Amino acid sequence: MRFASMTVGEIAAAYPDATDIFTRYGIDYCCGGRRNFTEATRSRGLDPDQIGREIIGREKDAARLTGKRNPFSIPQIIDQILQYHHAYVRDKRQTLPPLAKKVASTHGGKHPELSAVSQLTENLFDELENHMRKEEKILFPAILALVSHRENGTPLPQVRFQSIAQPIAMMERDHSQTGRELYGLQRITNDFTVPEDGCVSYKELCEKLRDVQAHIFEHLHLENNILFPRALELERTLRENPRDNGFSF
Ligand SMILES: [Fe+2]
Ligand SMILES: [Fe+2]
Repeated sequence: MRFASMTVGEIAAAYPDATDIFTRYGIDYCCGGRRNFTEATRSRGLDPDQIGREIIGREKDAARLTGKRNPFSIPQIIDQILQYHHAYVRDKRQTLPPLAKKVASTHGGKHPELSAVSQLTENLFDELENHMRKEEKILFPAILALVSHRENGTPLPQVRFQSIAQPIAMMERDHSQTGRELYGLQRITNDFTVPEDGCVSYKELCEKLRDVQAHIFEHLHLENNILFPRALELERTLRENPRDNGFSF
């Protein structure tokens, strides 16, 4: 079977529509992206061959529509992360923790889980802000400097690490923590389900948290499974063959 020896993250990066299928079957493709596909599907009681066929079926449809996969360069991917994903987190940070706090203070008596939801939501966004600043100030400029060095011969800046593998490993650890917190929110809210006696604001909170989880998983996937492997590959190529202009990113 085509996917037997691949990791879930490799499949998610190569077959963009696979992420919908993974989400539908509860297979973690961003923080659990290094897991072998066969093992990850079997651990959910699923048949890897059947899931593999679904992914290939969707890929054929997508290829027919778009003609190609993953057409973006490293700078374009970083731009997409900044303009779309980081901006989204900052936007939601303005409204979601205050909403969770308000719902907890109004309905916490009847629904004691809301206090934990509020605390987790606040922590999640504070940590994400801190994490995104590290990406924006340290990691992404280092990756873009590699691209510019490769394309224009610009000198590489002095950095405090020997390889971008070090800040990448730190970012991946942060991503795993974010993933745990999002799964924690999903568990406490019983899969973002409003209890029968839940009010309108409880419903709004659940809907928004569900959206945030999906959006952040997509963000982590783009970094863990697409940007980081490509940046590491670029650094490795440059080390082995400085400024080999025949290589394109
Ligand atoms: Fe990010
Ligand atoms: Fe990140």
